[in-house]
Amino acid sequence: MTSDEFFKKNKNKFDIIFLDGLHTYEQTIKDINNAAKCVQDDGVILVHDCLPKKIWNQIVPRLYGHWNGDVWKAIVEARTYNNIQTFTCIADHGLGMILKRKNNNILNIKNKDFKNLKFSDYYKNHKDFMNPITYEQLKTIILN
Ligand SMILES: C[S@@+](CC[C@H](N)C(=O)[O-])C[C@H]1O[C@@H](n2cnc3c(N)ncnc32)[C@H](O)[C@@H]1O
Repeated sequence: MTSDEFFKKNKNKFDIIFLDGLHTYEQTIKDINNAAKCVQDDGVILVHDCLPKKIWNQIVPRLYGHWNGDVWKAIVEARTYNNIQTFTCIADHGLGMILKRKNNNILNIKNKDFKNLKFSDYYKNHKDFMNPITYEQLKTIILN
């Protein structure tokens, strides 16, 4: 079933939710918001494909080769929420990590039209936008 159908029916709470479905901004931000409602308070949401290496890896619709889609824009939006903390582990194709904690590092961004952010914005601002962390940092953050 689609993630929308799943979240509509679901009544369970989860420790871990892994989002790796339709790699568009619109679907991913919906998946993140739905997942935030059914992850345990001390649980974690992981999001695949957050760090596209090249412009063509993130073009919607898919061109060719490895496709990350514009998932990264959903991470940028999640970074502006005050009720979750969002990081991106530099692993594989970029693994978003979202925790249900007060956001003490809110992304301050003037352009709230996340869908229309450009790859050049990401290229210039990826450290602020994505809040990148190493795997070692991820382990420390999750345990604290
Ligand atoms: C990149 S693959 C990841 C598959 C899986 N994580 C794995 O490792 O085998 C993306 C998958 O999401 C599915 N998909 C596409 N749109 C979806 C949607 N709206 N809801 C749920 N899954 C979707 C695709 O059919 C595909 O199987």
